[in-house]
Amino acid sequence: MKVGIIGTGYVGLVTGTCFAEMGNEVVCVDVDEDKVEGLRNGKLPIFEPGLEVYLHRNLREDRLSFTTSLADAVSACDLLFLALPTPPGADGSADLSFVLGVTKDIADLLTSDPASSYKVVVNKSTVPVGTAERVARVLVAEGLKAGEDFDVVSNPEFLREGVAVDDFMKPERVIVGTSSERAAKLMRRLYEPFVRQGNPILVMDERSSEMTKYAANAFLATKITFMNEIANVCELVGANVDEIRRGIGLDSRIGNKFLYAGIGFGGSCFPKDVQALERTASEHSYDFQILQAVLDVNDKQRSKLAEQVIAHFGGSLSGKTVAVWGLAFKPNTDDVREAPAHIIIRRLLEGGAVVRAFDPEAIETTRRVLGDTITYCTDDYSALEGADVLVICTEWHEFRRPDFKRIRGLLRQPLIFDGRNLYAEETMREYGFEYYSIGRPPVRPSETAKTEVTTHNGMS
Ligand SMILES: NC(=O)c1ccc[n+]([C@@H]2O[C@H](COP(=O)([O-])OP(=O)(O)OC[C@H]3O[C@@H](n4cnc5c(N)ncnc54)[C@H](O)[C@@H]3O)[C@@H](O)[C@H]2O)c1
Repeated sequence: MKVGIIGTGYVGLVTGTCFAEMGNEVVCVDVDEDKVEGLRNGKLPIFEPGLEVYLHRNLREDRLSFTTSLADAVSACDLLFLALPTPPGADGSADLSFVLGVTKDIADLLTSDPASSYKVVVNKSTVPVGTAERVARVLVAEGLKAGEDFDVVSNPEFLREGVAVDDFMKPERVIVGTSSERAAKLMRRLYEPFVRQGNPILVMDERSSEMTKYAANAFLATKITFMNEIANVCELVGANVDEIRRGIGLDSRIGNKFLYAGIGFGGSCFPKDVQALERTASEHSYDFQILQAVLDVNDKQRSKLAEQVIAHFGGSLSGKTVAVWGLAFKPNTDDVREAPAHIIIRRLLEGGAVVRAFDPEAIETTRRVLGDTITYCTDDYSALEGADVLVICTEWHEFRRPDFKRIRGLLRQPLIFDGRNLYAEETMREYGFEYYSIGRPPVRPSETAKTEVTTHNGMS
């Protein structure tokens, strides 16, 4: 099939590359000329495991092309996917200017070409309920006929950055929102190779499809936030949130995924989608109280670790150096949008600290946001040189089993604040660290071994 992808960011690039991998002819469009030029030469603008191999193969086999010309995609393709940004507007609602602007451009191209054929315009961006109808209205306003010249489909994306290629190639479900049988048939044909093991393609009306995406993200954000609140209470009552997670996760009604307490959710989706759903509800005079609470709790949770560090040093970090491990909003990505690490770093800087940071992939993306306000280090251990404390913000694999003896030797004092609960208490005690994590009993200096560390074993 001939597929156009408009917007070649995290979602568009994965979508286009994976459709090409399945044998489709794909044209990806972006306004960013440097990005398009790089992609033509096989250079990925993002870090996403597994994507590079597919990109190179499909470029080589001429199934995947990149252009800045929307006209190229519109004339060549039957399905046009909009994978455009939908950032929060001033009032928190999703800004649809990219989606509606490109739709208008598509309408102009179709009306000016007498030979143009039937197109399916697919919303892959996360968009508020009613957007499919708004997109259709833009096309109709230019004189195009629904069902004859075009149909509009909602096809929300559920991929997770870091495992996006696997998620796209083997989706747990595909949601298709359309009232057009013709468009549904084309969408089924496109997605059937991705669900050969029997996962469902659910066809529903446009509004329910759009709402499904927001409901999924709002539920997941709520689940994380609930565990963070449990963790906060655990700290007050002396319980251990790891035990609670195991204890409730075995209940099949709850499930054992997404129950890890930490420093709050970030990324380009959860914060903006929770906000947008709350706005949609309030536009319909409904007070979606849980969502406001989720956002408030998450805000507090994201600065909590920094506040604890500042309090530990008596209210000021002046003259202190803080080592930060992890800048990306989660592991296996270079994405730092709404990253808790950035919020923590800003607060540490306000508190007077000098910050030395390391992340395996997110140094460059962080540099674009934080500039030279912090020192970027080339590896995890160099970040520790002369630091008074280590703060862990992202659970990259390589941080899970470090050389604790080396860490002790590099830090001015054996002190760790761990926002991702990476280490076992016994290990911290054994290596003589003072250790604070989320929702678990702290390991305080009086309990830590004062003697020389003798072993590398016994890590969590
Ligand atoms: N990132 C995720 O994990 C994820 C997951 C599911 C859904 N989504 C949703 O998918 C949508 C896209 O998200 P993203 O993370 O890929 O965004 P992104 O910012 O990474 O990518 C958007 C791309 O669109 C391009 N663009 C902007 N205006 C354009 C135009 N007029 N014509 C062509 N290209 C244009 C930008 O240059 C950019 O490359 C959003 O609605 C988001 O909420 C994202």
